[in-house]
Amino acid sequence: MPVAKIAPSLLSGDFANLASECQRMLDLGADYLHMDVMDGHFVPNLTIGAPVIQSLRRHTDAFLDCHLMVSDPERWVEDFAKAGASLYMFHYEATENHLSLIHKIHELGMKAGISLKPKTPVDVLLPLAKHLDMVLIMTVEPGFGGQKFMVDCLPKVSTLRKAFPDLDIEVDGGVDLTNIDQATAAGANVIVAGTSIFKAESPRKVIEIFRQSVNA
Ligand code: DX5
Ligand code: ZN
Repeated sequence: MPVAKIAPSLLSGDFANLASECQRMLDLGADYLHMDVMDGHFVPNLTIGAPVIQSLRRHTDAFLDCHLMVSDPERWVEDFAKAGASLYMFHYEATENHLSLIHKIHELGMKAGISLKPKTPVDVLLPLAKHLDMVLIMTVEPGFGGQKFMVDCLPKVSTLRKAFPDLDIEVDGGVDLTNIDQATAAGANVIVAGTSIFKAESPRKVIEIFRQSVNA
């Protein structure tokens, strides 16, 4: 399994103190910062866009794992590259031009990822995965933090892990101490968590346990 990367979702942080929240997570052991971008159209919620990523980039060199829950993801790719996004993760369901968008993202110097909503079958990723730096299997319907983990999404992780032993496979949505071992046993090595890290008494401990679970 590729190396563990723990990526707290800043959606559960204090957006009014974003730079210090990011630094706090890095100090507590986070590898990546997971930034949830929502457009109020692809998902029924609205968060941040490229200007916020650009401001944040002035405060940190960290890997910014940008999860674009937007319709028409082609529209924002240049803005996010200029803003300093490290990885541009778009949704399979949001476009028909997957391969050309992947190439565009790479041309602009970012890493490329595709995310699947819970109802989208994993087969669609099989021909695309070799072009991708990361895939994301959602374990909730995208749009909000604090939802319940959907364990029935994990067979998609197992299928991908069997086919692509070196691929970074991310899980996102409802991941906590009660289900992390199931997610990592299926083959996930990039762990996104909002509620379970930010609301924990010891976020450092939670990050550590997630890492141990990937490495077990
Ligand atoms: C949901 C977002 C997630 C969310 C996870 O659509 O993609 O990144 O912040 O939050 P929790 O861990 O609370 O489910
Ligand atoms: Zn996310």
